Amino acid sequence: MHKYKGSSKLMLQPENTEELSQILKYCNSRCLAVVPQGGNTGLVGGSVPVFDEVIINTRRMNSIISFDKVSGVLVCEAGCILENLISFLDKQGFIMPLDLGAKGSCQIGGNVSTNAGGLRLVRYGSLHGTVLGLEVVLANGDVMDMLGTLRKDNTGYDLKHLFIGSEGSLGIITKVSILTPPKLSSVNIAFLACQDYISCQKLLFEAKRRLGEILSAFEFLDSRAMNLVLNHLDGVRNPLPSSIYNFYVLIETTGSNESSDKEKLEAFLVHAMESGLVSDGALAQDLNQASSFWHIREGIPEALMKAGAVYKYDLSLPVEKMYDLVEEMRIRLGAEANVVGYGHLGDGNLHLNVSTPQYDDAVRFVFLLHKSKNGPTVLLLIIIRTPQQILAQIEPFVYEWTSRHHGSISAEHGLGLMKAEKIYYSKSAGTVQLMASIKKLLDPSGILNPYKVIPQSLLS
Ligand code: FAD
Ligand code: MLT
Ligand code: ZN
Repeated sequence: MHKYKGSSKLMLQPENTEELSQILKYCNSRCLAVVPQGGNTGLVGGSVPVFDEVIINTRRMNSIISFDKVSGVLVCEAGCILENLISFLDKQGFIMPLDLGAKGSCQIGGNVSTNAGGLRLVRYGSLHGTVLGLEVVLANGDVMDMLGTLRKDNTGYDLKHLFIGSEGSLGIITKVSILTPPKLSSVNIAFLACQDYISCQKLLFEAKRRLGEILSAFEFLDSRAMNLVLNHLDGVRNPLPSSIYNFYVLIETTGSNESSDKEKLEAFLVHAMESGLVSDGALAQDLNQASSFWHIREGIPEALMKAGAVYKYDLSLPVEKMYDLVEEMRIRLGAEANVVGYGHLGDGNLHLNVSTPQYDDAVRFVFLLHKSKNGPTVLLLIIIRTPQQILAQIEPFVYEWTSRHHGSISAEHGLGLMKAEKIYYSKSAGTVQLMASIKKLLDPSGILNPYKVIPQSLLS
């Protein structure tokens, strides 16, 4: 995003848990801060060294340890790239329970550490449900073996949950055991157009009722997101070119009976058309078309990046209120910025993105030729730092709005560096205090991913 600039003299790439444990033991004894890093695709600066932290990158820990076809439990090292796991499972007739646009680079350890949501959470649930076990190295180098493969285990506190979503602030995940669903034979994808947001909402309500157990994704994008993709990504075509629509919805169904699944989806689409919820639509006829529909949705972050600077907000909000925020933001920012809305509507997760040509705290350099009365002509360099006008219009407004509507300021991307100090908008003071106590217990010297997740004032 060209937003976070790392600063580190050293990156270590351990090959196994033992090496990683030795590294942490050493760093802890010397009070050397470290930043755990997976695929570095995170969107909140969590994997970026802020001052001089030692980067511990898990990319070399990338073996698949075991896969059990009966239970569907996959055990692998943290550095496995998500897409490689998806390909491995595909050959076994299974799928990963999570999928996201960054799958080509992000690692399963990074996914678990951020509790990544992604495109199919509506069907398979969060990683808190599908991750069965973890191996974690604590700040002092101790290896915690919690790598269970059982679905049910109520022996005391289920401590693995502390590490799911803790963004590398409590320990470094080295191995993951995860429940994977079987790959089902019939997948259908529809790309639909709606004229207004209320129709998108009603469509979601109907999809849940009429598609039920076969619904595997319900994503939406507004016309501005669509235009960005069409303008900035090569080879993308609008599947519904006959008119301009305000909203687009991508619906995927996954089931085991081709004819009945298709029948169900078609009946749903007929109902949606007849009741006026959907203005136009296309059903993917083959795998190529299906992936071209997905490419539009998954390509939005890349298109935004190509368009210039982007202020990203990842919010959980009541579905009925969600798009009001996008509209209010447009009124606040006027023509200065392109305010874009898209996201995982099925999960109540809005991605509100504000796109501008450049970050407004950018430094501008102006060169002037200055001729003094008797002296020589000199070249003057003037450095202008523009006030953060756009950012000041967005924040704290966006966080206050979200808090007022009982939402979350981080639905799935985490807090990282960007939102560590904003945690109070979504969590009570007592809860944050308890989090800080847990952090101090597990990492008394504060070496693990400092400046992230928890406000600094509670840790110093
Ligand atoms: P990194 O970026 O390297 O690290 C993320 C955080 O986890 C950091 O705080 C880091 O310190 C910590 N960490 C990494 N590895 C470990 C480890 N082994 N142990 C402990 N801590 C660790 N996110 C979603 O939730 N849903 C989406 O749909 C989604 N789509 C995306 C699409 C694109 C195009 C991009 C660029 C990003 C997207 N993201 C999404 C955000 C990002 O991909 C996820 O947060 C991902 O899970 C991060 O994985 P990573 O390996 O790149 O982690
Ligand atoms: C997405 O859903 O596309 C991701 O979370 C990334 C983003 O919001 O940009
Ligand atoms: Zn997302």
